[in-house]
Amino acid sequence: PAPAATPQYRPSFHFTPAAKWMNDPNGMVFYQGEYHLFFQHYPAGDVWGPMHWGHATSKDLVRWQPQPIALYPDSLGYIFSGSAVVDAQNTSGFGKNGQVPLVAIFTHHDPKGEKAGTRTFQNQSLAYSLDAGKTWTKYAGNPVLKNPGIQDFRDPKVSWHAPSKRWVMTLATKDRITFFASPNLKDWTKLSEFGEKLGGHGGVWECPDLFPLTLDGKTHWVLLISINPGGPQGGSATQYFVGDFDGKTFTPSNTRTRWIDYGRDNYAGVTWGNTGARRIFLGWMNNWDYATTVPTAPWRSAMTVPRELSLRRVGNDISLVQQPVAELAAREKTVFAVSAKTVAKTYEVPYKGTAYDLTLDLKPGTARTLTLNVLQSAGETTALRYDVAQQTLILDRTKSGNVAFNPKFSSAETMKVPLANGRLKLRVLVDKASVEVFAQDGAHVLTDVVFPTKQEGRISLVAEGGAAEITSLKINTL
Ligand code: FRU
Repeated sequence: PAPAATPQYRPSFHFTPAAKWMNDPNGMVFYQGEYHLFFQHYPAGDVWGPMHWGHATSKDLVRWQPQPIALYPDSLGYIFSGSAVVDAQNTSGFGKNGQVPLVAIFTHHDPKGEKAGTRTFQNQSLAYSLDAGKTWTKYAGNPVLKNPGIQDFRDPKVSWHAPSKRWVMTLATKDRITFFASPNLKDWTKLSEFGEKLGGHGGVWECPDLFPLTLDGKTHWVLLISINPGGPQGGSATQYFVGDFDGKTFTPSNTRTRWIDYGRDNYAGVTWGNTGARRIFLGWMNNWDYATTVPTAPWRSAMTVPRELSLRRVGNDISLVQQPVAELAAREKTVFAVSAKTVAKTYEVPYKGTAYDLTLDLKPGTARTLTLNVLQSAGETTALRYDVAQQTLILDRTKSGNVAFNPKFSSAETMKVPLANGRLKLRVLVDKASVEVFAQDGAHVLTDVVFPTKQEGRISLVAEGGAAEITSLKINTL
């Protein structure tokens, strides 16, 4: 029997498919005023299965319009993750009579080859659209980049490299990234490899992305790499490197293993193409540890909120910073605000809700810990606790509601968050079944899904061991 519907978990400002299974975001590209979001989708099931590319579009990154399925499995296999580009100069030749083609570059995963034990069942293929992404035609010459014998050979992220006037593909190849170049998206030459001995290696590398960001007038290149398993909190997670890319080789300026998110539910995230100087990221808000069992119906999985990426100097390091896109705040209204408030013991916030954008700016004062409880009902809370001595922020979902659906789900995650000038600044996006925490203006990020069994939506602040000074607390809704 179909599982009972869970409308209480349908988010109000996060993307979900109307029904059925979703995983990675794919083919994200901005074109003619629309943000395209494709996604790994199994339209016949609520668990992973033969992969299609589902499709949705948005003009503001907040409201999404469902679109017909863009790519169906075919004789070459399932349609795995990949990217899409605006081929403005028609290098591919897919455009006719001056048309600009949108070209999708994806992995064809051949389940028959996999079963037969060949190592070459993942290959890269193309599809193009001549009507701004509405309908897609697969290229007759697929696959365009054949597997040389590496079992995990997938998730092509392609962008135009202006200095060398060619396309660069960033591909996940088992335990490293391989870069390829092409003049026309059809013929690919290997450039270099990165990472065999760097970063986390507790699992296979997947879904990479390579893009430039500017800091103090200088261009740096950011390389995102998802890994499953082997994340810092268990299961799947995404690591990053900042460095230089000369059109051929990526050289990191810092070889430490760093993660973009210290929660458990931000995976396979990549950025939109064709957005000018802006870099907008979106991740799959789930974890392969328990993804196929999360208790939502008739859909399974949501995406994170779109996040604008930037770089910030922290000591000698250059760190990746994430903030919810400004389009979100532009649509919000403030429904509650309080300033200059001392919290000793418990402050029940006189606002209840299950979907909001909360900003909290505080000085810990004499408090030893300060806990923000959200999605709170009798006996249930998703607790965000700041430990002043340790300067750590802990998201505890062990009492958040339904945690029993999978033995790997119940957890509390800790992330280091140093005070900045004696202050802690939190932005917390709560949306029915998820909590995204952006601490210290997006320098430290933690994303978790939760499944409260009651929807009282209480919010409280609890200071222990002393009193904390709330400079301001603001709650916005859409
Ligand atoms: C990541 C991933 C990708 C692959 C896709 C298949 O979650 O495993 O590497 O292309 O999912 O759905």
